[in-house]
Amino acid sequence: MPPGVTEAWKSAEKELVELAAAGNVLEATEIPQKEEIEKVIQKHKKDPTAIIAILQDVQDVLDYVPKESIPFMAEELGTSPAKIYGIVTFYAQFRLQPKGKYIILLCVGTACHVNGAQLVGKTITDELGISGGETTEDGLFTFEKVACIGCCSLSPVMVINEETYAMLNPEATRKVLKEYRDREKAEQN
Ligand code: FES
Repeated sequence: MPPGVTEAWKSAEKELVELAAAGNVLEATEIPQKEEIEKVIQKHKKDPTAIIAILQDVQDVLDYVPKESIPFMAEELGTSPAKIYGIVTFYAQFRLQPKGKYIILLCVGTACHVNGAQLVGKTITDELGISGGETTEDGLFTFEKVACIGCCSLSPVMVINEETYAMLNPEATRKVLKEYRDREKAEQN
């Protein structure tokens, strides 16, 4: 078991036990891109000591580790779903959801921090209901905190996909997020 096991671990484990039970009745087709996952496991010769490398490869191929695939991987590797889930949730490099359509990178480097990045981050969390490393349920936004992105004179800064937003404050941040939501609504109509 990785170090730092907490209440979150226990609740994650409980969720996994339920998921594993559900997995018994899931059709093979309900595991996203199961064939790709199988290929990765085969490449590692079903070696249970290579779990981290397998998860890294799965994420390289799919861009995330589908939660629904964990019971299947556990069965293939002869280990427990809770162990795999524990690793995925312990290491920040792994994602259990695909990235959103819009990736918000908030710089939390020194200059941005000093100039209010924390407030910008709080505004993003308040507006979208997600913290750093998370994706909104509708799959629209992923919020990530990153180190200096090299435009400190414009701090605090965030980048959404290719677009850079400078000298932000909570009000400006709300306005930017609203623009994206409005754009999305317009695309759907
Ligand atoms: S610290 Fe944010 S751009 Fe440099």
